[in-house]
Amino acid sequence: MRFFFFVVLMLCVIYSVSSSTSGVVNSLEPYTMYIIDSGIQNLIVHIHSKDNDLGNHTMTIRDTFHWDFRRNFGETTEFSGNFYWMMSDNQVYREVEFPVFNNQIAEECGNKLVTTNKCFWLVKYDGFYFSKGSPSDGRLKYKWGHGNI
Ligand SMILES: *[C@@H]1O[C@H](CO)[C@@H](O)[C@H](O)[C@H]1NC(C)=O
Repeated sequence: MRFFFFVVLMLCVIYSVSSSTSGVVNSLEPYTMYIIDSGIQNLIVHIHSKDNDLGNHTMTIRDTFHWDFRRNFGETTEFSGNFYWMMSDNQVYREVEFPVFNNQIAEECGNKLVTTNKCFWLVKYDGFYFSKGSPSDGRLKYKWGHGNI
C-alpha cells in the first residue's frame, strides 16, 4: 500500500514537472531525422542546432544515423548539417552545409502530433535526397559544393 502511494506521488511530481515548464504546451510535433549514407565510402556528418551539438559521425555506405526531437512551441527548431566527403587519406574532398530541418522541411516532412514524423536525407555522390515516411523516392535537394538547387 505504501508503495502504491509512493508511485502515485511520483507520477504527480513527474506530471507537474513535465507540464509546467512553460505554462501550457512547450513542444509540438515529434520527428525522427535519418541520415543514410547511400554511396560515400568515407563520410563525416556533423548535425547541430542552437541547443544541441551531435558531434562528428563517421559513416560508410549503408550506415544510418538518426536522432529524435520535438519541434518547439515557437517553431524555431532548426538543425544544420555539415557533410564532409572524405578521401582515403582523410583529406576533405567535398564539403557542404545546409539546414537539414527547419520550418520548410517540416512542411514537407509532415506535422503529425501523435505519431512520429520520419524524414530522410540520403547522401549520394551527386547530392542529398530528401524524402518523408520512407527512404525511397527521395528528391535531390542539395548538391555537393553547389548549395541549394
Ligand atoms: C569534424 O570533421 C571535420 C572533417 O574532418 C573536421 O574539419 C572538423 O574539425 C571535425 N570536428 C570535430 C569537432 O572533430
